[in-house]
Amino acid sequence: MENQKPETGRFSEWIAPIRAENDRLTAANGKRPGAHLLTFGCQQNVADSEKIAGLAEAMGYEIVGTPEEADLIVVNTCAVREHAEKKALSIIGQFKHLKAKNPDLILALCGCMVTQPHRAEEIKKRYPYVDIVFGTGALHLFPQLLWEKKQTGKRRMVPDVTETIIAEGIPVRRESGYRAWVSIMYGCNNFCTYCIVPYVRGRERSRDHACIERELEELVKSGCKDITLLGQNVNSYGKDRADGFDFADLLAKLDAIPGDYTLRFMTSHPKDASRKLIDVMAKSTHVAHQFHLPLQAGSDAVLRRMNRKYTTAQYLETVDYLRGKMPDVTLSSDIIVGFPGETDEDFAGTLEMLERVRFDMIFSFIYSPRKGTPAAEMEDQVPPDVQHARFDRLLALQNEIAKEKNQPLLGKPLRVLCDGKSKNNPALLSGRTDGNKIAFFEGEETNTGRFVTFVADRADAYALYGSIREERTGSENDRNI
Ligand code: SAH
Ligand code: SF4
Ligand code: F3S
Repeated sequence: MENQKPETGRFSEWIAPIRAENDRLTAANGKRPGAHLLTFGCQQNVADSEKIAGLAEAMGYEIVGTPEEADLIVVNTCAVREHAEKKALSIIGQFKHLKAKNPDLILALCGCMVTQPHRAEEIKKRYPYVDIVFGTGALHLFPQLLWEKKQTGKRRMVPDVTETIIAEGIPVRRESGYRAWVSIMYGCNNFCTYCIVPYVRGRERSRDHACIERELEELVKSGCKDITLLGQNVNSYGKDRADGFDFADLLAKLDAIPGDYTLRFMTSHPKDASRKLIDVMAKSTHVAHQFHLPLQAGSDAVLRRMNRKYTTAQYLETVDYLRGKMPDVTLSSDIIVGFPGETDEDFAGTLEMLERVRFDMIFSFIYSPRKGTPAAEMEDQVPPDVQHARFDRLLALQNEIAKEKNQPLLGKPLRVLCDGKSKNNPALLSGRTDGNKIAFFEGEETNTGRFVTFVADRADAYALYGSIREERTGSENDRNI
């Protein structure tokens, strides 16, 4: 495939007229029109929503916290499992009464769910009060669609994946000043048989590395402390480009940007977790010793039917190499239980892999059939009661392992980036270790966005609990888990 040219400007000309109209309304009403965003799904969607919010702000909206205050609502949807779709559809249903109260309210849907043709059709027919729909590849068209809707009063729908465009230069409204998400590639070519993502995100497209480097330099300069590079298969970066510059090269280049910050990336596909990449990580100054490496299943037969392109033995080799180079590496994984045809023996293989690898964390999912994917058509779908029983066993085993894995960290000084008051327990602050483990501790809220040295005295499967040893500033960069 040819390298794509970054595109700019396609959205800019539509921003100005909406801004002018919103400035007029602001002068007349004494407050800016409100825009409310709701995001489902993965970090890729969170990053997209930060761009949608950036565009909304540029168009003269104020971002508001509730749908009731809004003149524009954007729902960014996910399609990865049925549950995610149901939640989005139910919320969209609830917005009908807001439209009845405020006829000028504009309701826009975007993201993976509406990029599926059958869902776009359903929205068209059954949700007539939805004004704008744009697919994952059409984010840059949002201002144009909004302007056209405002001018004509007609619904505007572009639900497809526009695969050739990488729109650079879209304004970003970041939720945090010290943690940032940076998409470096879009799409997926892997077609795992259970997964909808390749259909709704299109083929792999990598951003120009100079654009990524500039974005990171600006982030670090602005005081950002924790940067996560995003891609459906972040380590496939560069494969669609002609210059041979791969993900390991990119990571090495970004690591050279000076400053006091941590660099992370997700999600990696085990088939692309190269030794070159692991070597770069091990030698780096800023890259966290943390690897999210979705295993999905611990049976070679299931992995084959999933089209994952690796065996459990190859997966274990990668883990050994990782731990050889970085003994302190935090490993996490995604596991699917109840994939079609999964036998008791296959599932026992998954439990065995958990015991052998001893992940610090897993994200586990019950298989959810996705329309249009090969696995949805497979015979031997596993009954829900069997899926749930296996899911519970998996969690019970992982909880034991995670708790045990946290014990050696007790009493050791760890670098933690403080996120401020814990949502669940406002008496405590929370933060993340370099290995991305959650830490809870007492302290002043002024630590938010700063690295502190934390010592844990207790740990369960999900978090470390302890206190701050000292507040840190400056350019210290020693690394702990
Ligand atoms: N690109 C990433 C993650 C994609 S989606 C990767 O390849 O690892 C995140 C996780 O959702 C997947 O790793 C998988 O474990 C899970 N998932 C995807 N499709 C699913 C489905 N149909 N049912 C259940 N879990 C699914
Ligand atoms: Fe889905 Fe597989 Fe692509 Fe991940 S690698 S997004 S699981 S198809
Ligand atoms: Fe969901 Fe789309 Fe992400 S399907 S998980 S929001 S790529």
